[in-house]
Amino acid sequence: MRPRPLAFTAVCHTCPYPLMSIDEIYRLVAPDMEQVNNCIQARLHSEVALIDQIGAYIVNSGGKRLRPIIHLLATRAYGYQDNQHIDLAAIIEFIHTATLLHDDVVDGSQLRRGEATANNLWGNEASVLVGDFLYSRAFQMMVEIGRMKVMDIMADATNTIAEGEVLQLLNCHDPDTTEARYLEVIHSKTAKLFESAARLGAVLNGRSEADEQAMADFGMHLGCAFQLVDDVLDYTADSNALGKNVGDDLAEGKPTLPLIHAMRHGTPEQAAIIRTSIEVGGLDQIDVILQTIESTGAIDYTARCAETEADKAIETLGNVPESEYKTALIALAHFAVNRNY
Ligand code: IPE
Ligand code: IPE
Ligand code: MG
Ligand code: MG
Repeated sequence: MRPRPLAFTAVCHTCPYPLMSIDEIYRLVAPDMEQVNNCIQARLHSEVALIDQIGAYIVNSGGKRLRPIIHLLATRAYGYQDNQHIDLAAIIEFIHTATLLHDDVVDGSQLRRGEATANNLWGNEASVLVGDFLYSRAFQMMVEIGRMKVMDIMADATNTIAEGEVLQLLNCHDPDTTEARYLEVIHSKTAKLFESAARLGAVLNGRSEADEQAMADFGMHLGCAFQLVDDVLDYTADSNALGKNVGDDLAEGKPTLPLIHAMRHGTPEQAAIIRTSIEVGGLDQIDVILQTIESTGAIDYTARCAETEADKAIETLGNVPESEYKTALIALAHFAVNRNY
């Protein structure tokens, strides 16, 4: 696995909880996560060698496993004692991995988790098809869980993610994309899966509708914060730390919030350069665009939006009983914002 750089320490000025580091969170969920990883390995298997090969490549290249962690923590936070959360966490990671395989094809991305993308190594066709395998394997596993409510939530999430990716495709190369349209995309393509991962923690415990909604809102806000920061990191990160190529969004003419804000607040000349870059894609104007992002405060603005979302996520946990699992959920909301990978 790629050496993992440490995220700079989250400092919480707004809540009374002790700050858990990401490594402490991993330690807390380690016994569950070991079982999740075993389940992932076992259920990746196919008689078709190429599926095994690509599946193992992407799954073993070291993702952060944030969505399964959120599910495990949300489940444990309500005192869960059974074991359906293990399979469900694996299912959630399979769906996430399938979206990444497809997303890297659509985005033409060449680097993921510090390694060449599957599309880079095996081609677009194989990536799309193995993504389909992972989606359908996830649904086989859901049927085995045998709870209609789980099926309902996950089917809905998967459908919404697909909608989000298609909406984003429509926004691509469109410099008139508004902040509202951008937010709609990130809710659907990213936050929805975080929402489901957290909500299902309450569902497995048979909690009330209100508790379920609170967990769902937690995941939704955290997921938004996470994608806002992802879109910041696409301009500011170190590619080695991030494990993805920086500048991918601009290269493909993706109007994310840093660009939307910079166009709104830049000079007419600066706005015109960004408009053209979104229309045609490519990195020709990267230097002037980075300057404009800087001078208009676009990164700060996007990061502040992310912080607001993380704060809202933390607020939703008000009625969750105090435990180290709740503290870890809160710490994850901070991590979503204060991370460099
Ligand atoms: C990448 O998600 C896709 C986005 C929603 C930005 P992660 O950053 O959680 O990906 P891995 O699983 O850790 O590689
Ligand atoms: C997230 O968007 C993609 C999915 C939710 C599938 P991005 O396109 O920004 O994600 P990265 O940057 O490729 O990981
Ligand atoms: Mg992408
Ligand atoms: Mg991105």
